[in-house]
Amino acid sequence: MKRLVVVLAAGQGTRMKSPRAKVLHPVLGRPMAIQTLASLETLSADRTFVVVGHQREAVQEALSSCGVTCVVQEPQLGTGHALMACRNAIEAEGPAEVLLVPGDAPLLPGDALAGMWDTFHRSGEAAAVVTLRLERPFGYGRILRDGASLVRIVEERDAKPEERALTEVNSGVYFFRSPGLWALLERVGRDNAQGEYYLTDLFALLHREGRSASLFAAPDPRDWLGINTQEELARTTQRLREGLVRRWMEAGATVMDPPSTWIEAGVRLGAGVVLHPFVRLCGTTRLESGVEVRSFSVLTDCEIGEGTLIKEHCVLERTAVGPRCILGPFSRTREGTVLEEGVHLGNFVETKKARLGKGVKANHLSYLGDATVGAGSNIGAGTITCNYDGRMKHPTVLGEGVFVGSDTQLVAPVTVGDGAYIGAGATVTKDVPAGALAISRVPQKNVEGWAERKKARGR
Ligand code: UD1
Ligand code: MG
Repeated sequence: MKRLVVVLAAGQGTRMKSPRAKVLHPVLGRPMAIQTLASLETLSADRTFVVVGHQREAVQEALSSCGVTCVVQEPQLGTGHALMACRNAIEAEGPAEVLLVPGDAPLLPGDALAGMWDTFHRSGEAAAVVTLRLERPFGYGRILRDGASLVRIVEERDAKPEERALTEVNSGVYFFRSPGLWALLERVGRDNAQGEYYLTDLFALLHREGRSASLFAAPDPRDWLGINTQEELARTTQRLREGLVRRWMEAGATVMDPPSTWIEAGVRLGAGVVLHPFVRLCGTTRLESGVEVRSFSVLTDCEIGEGTLIKEHCVLERTAVGPRCILGPFSRTREGTVLEEGVHLGNFVETKKARLGKGVKANHLSYLGDATVGAGSNIGAGTITCNYDGRMKHPTVLGEGVFVGSDTQLVAPVTVGDGAYIGAGATVTKDVPAGALAISRVPQKNVEGWAERKKARGR
């Protein structure tokens, strides 16, 4: 028997009051739908279907590398209608057990789900529903039970006051068997407050046939909560963030101020990493052991070598930094930057597609783009690679041990040989041979007594 997963992600998410489809809102840096799929990864289902509809091109695009099959629900007439949209795709898989989850519950605990799935498998029941106990059940479907079995689920908007007082709610996570339930789902109507085909109405029909669904109580409801509003999105993001920060502390990272530390799910930290308050680590960033990142630095998709120090206010993107480098404060490295061992990059230095060899120092106020700098070279303050001619980008290549004086413009394409010197204030338009000194400044002239004469003219 196959094990299939269905994720419902076709709704608009009206309560988000946002032009973006709900499942595309980022939860700790990645779209809600992708975070939801990530939480189900450990189940290793045979196939995963995602029901898309509202803004489906954008949702499909976001899911393109997730290895899922998208099923289109058009128009979107409710959760029951959404499941019906998958009927053919699921039936084509032959007899199957199906786990159905909403695309707006991104923290589902995979291990608990796996346990429930095994229980469901052994039970032989037609369906099972995961329920939550909530002090404030507002917005959720309420569970009406008879002992251990489900009588029906009543939606908030259709519930009578005494039903609204019930605190056991529907998580929106279900197990069922295919083809067993399809005939009943066909019979679900849309005579309710929202005029929608409610998936939840299936269970009353099942109960009337004397086959009711079993109920699984979720141990910690906070992992199962759906996101329907911006506030819930922020709360869920915080919960995920807190969990990840805690996990990295357990693995040996020093986090000085957990509440202000942002670590996304794809980040990896070595032992002995030190994070100061207000650090943001995004995407696939990896920090080797002993890396220290100081406040207000933001790293996205970076690899940082052992023992490197990133001082305050650095913004690094798609950058590979070797071991024992020192960056910042206020360094900005962009895509394609590679800093080898022991590089020093100081304040207001920007790099893009630049490879800086071992021990290179560029400590102040520079732009190095489309540049290669050989080991041991020193880049003076205010050095600019003029890499763009208004149409195309050109490379600058500096050899090893080059000394670039302050306020130099390197007009690319240009090459400077090993050990060459460039006098301060140069505009370098021609290649400089190894070991040479390049100077391109207007010779200085001192006009003796000029200041006195100016004052005299003023009188
Ligand atoms: C649903 C349940 C409710 C449960 C709650 C848990 C129904 C009728 N109600 O309510 O009992 O307590 O989830 O979070 O099922 N979707 C589609 N197509 C549609 C409509 C919705 O794919 O036509 C998707 C949405 O994108 C979303 C999921 O289904 O991911 C749930 O829809 P939502 O509108 O959030 O349902 P709730 O009102 O939260
Ligand atoms: Mg919901």
